[in-house]
Amino acid sequence: MLDYIRQSLDRIAAKDRRRVLRPAQLAGGGRIMRDGRELLDFSSNDYLGLARHPLLAERAADYARRLGAGAGASRLITGTSAEHEAVEARIAAFKGSEAALVMASGWQANAGIIPALANAAPNTAIFADELVHNSIHAGCRGAKADVHFYRHNDASDLQRLLNDHASKYDARIIITESVFSMDGDRADLAALNAIARKHDALLYVDEAHATGVLGKGGAGLTADNPGADIVMGTFSKAMGGFGAYVACSDLMRDYLINMCAGLIFSTATPPALLGAMDAALDIVPDMDAERAHLAELGEQLREGLNGMGFDTLGSTSQIVPLVVGPESDALALGQHLIERGIAALPIRPPTVPKGTSRIRLALRSTLESADVTKALEAIAEWKAA
Ligand SMILES: Cc1ncc(COP(=O)(O)O)c(C=O)c1O
Repeated sequence: MLDYIRQSLDRIAAKDRRRVLRPAQLAGGGRIMRDGRELLDFSSNDYLGLARHPLLAERAADYARRLGAGAGASRLITGTSAEHEAVEARIAAFKGSEAALVMASGWQANAGIIPALANAAPNTAIFADELVHNSIHAGCRGAKADVHFYRHNDASDLQRLLNDHASKYDARIIITESVFSMDGDRADLAALNAIARKHDALLYVDEAHATGVLGKGGAGLTADNPGADIVMGTFSKAMGGFGAYVACSDLMRDYLINMCAGLIFSTATPPALLGAMDAALDIVPDMDAERAHLAELGEQLREGLNGMGFDTLGSTSQIVPLVVGPESDALALGQHLIERGIAALPIRPPTVPKGTSRIRLALRSTLESADVTKALEAIAEWKAA
């Protein structure tokens, strides 16, 4: 077995894809410390700069001091505290849903909920956007269901698949992200809602990258386009902490408590994380100025990149892909930027489709317009070389 493991790593290395962990530390003002250097940070998902916000850190510390470091058990045993239920009530209010559940992480939520849903019916089909996150793929793989992928953000392709296949199944689930993690574009939730109703399908929306950033009060795109049956999101990105939520009906919450293995067989969220969630829910709804600033930075960045002839795909959010194509170009540009004090990391297959290697520029509201200008200048310099 160990020989196979070594060979596997060697094969990755031969493709120049072997990755290593490198310690870094978020700093103030949209900066990050790595290898003893301060870099302008276009690589973190701390979109609103809350990961180091004193209110979150203090409330996390307060909850830990009062309630301890761990929850002690899974939710169904003795791990559910009054604080879990209070945070879940606040999430439901924030998302405008009947109920909510806290889960360990976004990855675990998708990997656990999708099989639980699919396995409720004897013969289920999942229809998922082809660019959904790895955790959704993991959920689909774990589900006893046929999985059909539709072309990215293509409602007519989804229609076609449903017309061809939907009637063969007892139940159908449509899965999308509201803001796509690698392309930064948005799903047409109104169209997906209509299609889901027409084909009697459940609509499942992942708001990992929209939560805190988009929609009324930062409540995500489903706040402006209600109708999805189940919405998940994370506290690990714009919300500054860690952990995930599911916003849904009472019925769905009850079902997941009984059937979602990722919830049932995992220790409940620890107090400190609940404290950070509670603090984020206090301040995020009032961060319209930061959201507007983030949107302006996005416009500035896309305008600059498009002006240089780079494709930014359909990005309309704080995630801006700078597509260069070949993996070697993405690596070279990433290195060039690091040398100029800018952390903006290359993303390559299999994370993104072949031929679309890119620098994924993730904006943070703690960056200034001058920082974006500096990044654009460094990119222009690389392009001209
Ligand atoms: C679309 C999407 N869903 C889920 C996740 C997983 O969330 P978490 O980091 O909370 O595990 C991510 C994170 O990278 C993501 O991009």
